[in-house]
Amino acid sequence: MDRAIRFVHISDTHWASDAIAPGIDSKSRFDQLCDRIAAIPDPIDFIFHTGDWVHRGHLDGDTGYSTNQAWDRLQQLGLPVLTAVGNHDHRQVLSQRLRGSLPSDWQIHSVDCEEGRLAYWFEVRGEFFLVLDARASRQIDPRGELCARQLAAVGKLLADADRHWTIFMHYPPIELDCEWIDRTMRIENGHQFHELLALHSGRVRGVFFGHVHRPVSCLKDSILYVSSGSSAMHFPNMPGDPQAIMQSDPLALANYICIRDGMTLVKTQWTILSDPPSDRLDAL
Ligand SMILES: [Fe+2]
Repeated sequence: MDRAIRFVHISDTHWASDAIAPGIDSKSRFDQLCDRIAAIPDPIDFIFHTGDWVHRGHLDGDTGYSTNQAWDRLQQLGLPVLTAVGNHDHRQVLSQRLRGSLPSDWQIHSVDCEEGRLAYWFEVRGEFFLVLDARASRQIDPRGELCARQLAAVGKLLADADRHWTIFMHYPPIELDCEWIDRTMRIENGHQFHELLALHSGRVRGVFFGHVHRPVSCLKDSILYVSSGSSAMHFPNMPGDPQAIMQSDPLALANYICIRDGMTLVKTQWTILSDPPSDRLDAL
């Protein structure tokens, strides 16, 4: 029997009805990313979105329309969809959609955390997946912080010697050798989180995140950290970049991930984007 788990990891799609910046129609770009995923003939157990589904879903008064539109589009692929919460997301709508759209035999187990956050775990054929919510107050946005209750819960879950964990979150918990990201985009208590993982490195398959709009991989103290690129816009993430440099390169990225035989394999996939249909161009 094939015990492999295979999933697609996407992030930072920033769906919006209107252009989010000159030349960036994130709705059309997301459509094309969905088409690319639909064209994968190989097995996919689920799709995991590590947040920033939409562009401004976190603002007061957001109706959830964009989030629902983006979720509906991804769900059309007919695969289970799971998510972590990003700093641009409508957390409540994501929480509702998650619980309403999984196969009936999938169970979502809540992880103890500060009220209002979306932290949970689930199991697929003997592999365990943990989703954390590091979105904290608006004052520290776009940085994140894991609440003490989540950290305590992570410690308890990882203490079980019979389980291996794949972990998802929006923000990078470690430094990524990029001045503005390390200063403004990280989880503030990420070091504490990393030290916890390092104690149980043999049980961690990998930590998958977004927020940096670039595929990045890093091995630190035997913990594998991997991000997905974006379909909407890209940041170079080079060491001396003093602030975000936004690139609108016509490229949508995703990772195809396989976990089998104690191995975590990440294959970055992409599609070259075409211009949106002319009626949408007229509208932008
Ligand atoms: Fe983002």
